[in-house]
Amino acid sequence: MLHISPSILAADFSKLREEVARVETGGADWLHLDVMDGIFVPNISFGAPVIAALRPHSKLFFDVHLMIVDPHRYINDFLRAGADLITIHAESCDDPAACLDAIRAAGCRAGIAISPNTPAEVILPLLPRVDLALVMTVHPGFGGQSFMADMMPKVTAIRKEIERLGLTVALEVDGGIGVGNTPTVTSAGADVLVAGSAIFRAENPAAVIRDMNAAALPFAQ
Ligand code: DX5
Ligand code: ZN
Repeated sequence: MLHISPSILAADFSKLREEVARVETGGADWLHLDVMDGIFVPNISFGAPVIAALRPHSKLFFDVHLMIVDPHRYINDFLRAGADLITIHAESCDDPAACLDAIRAAGCRAGIAISPNTPAEVILPLLPRVDLALVMTVHPGFGGQSFMADMMPKVTAIRKEIERLGLTVALEVDGGIGVGNTPTVTSAGADVLVAGSAIFRAENPAAVIRDMNAAALPFAQ
């Protein structure tokens, strides 16, 4: 099943609660929350307190994307803040498998992300212990960057491995996604599409969410 996960990084931070309500009534079922520490990526966004503040005001599935070093230090904070899924970067710690296991042991869904310079092979062995794999289609750190189509072979390689192993792992793409490249990413094998600027900077976010759902294609390889 396809999920559109609007990233609040592109929302108006002065009225986050209303911005979340706008995409929730607009048909989104996930919400993407980009946490940046200024070390793993050259930008600082927000942390667990902001997520906790939004939690009582939304029924959306909270898809928390941690772009922070040594994420195991903060798993309990994000869990308590109301994360439904916590995704860590393969490049952000020495032992991603242990961190993923700790997220699941704490009763949360776990995801593993790779930045553009990291090959798919790095996370293939981790697929049996995750609920989601995330292929970054921009260098993490900032919204509004251009989509990297050359990441699609990684998406397809991961989709094939998920199918070969008979797993139910969701496959997410993040960065520069909108209506125009929805056919590309979905036919490559993605089923969770993060979109920040394309949704929050639109006049009518509901129409973008609807058009992205309509533009999705089945996995084609
Ligand atoms: C980038 C973030 C993305 C970003 C996407 O580091 O992980 O989630 O907000 O924004 P757009 O859709 O504008 O590329
Ligand atoms: Zn993200």
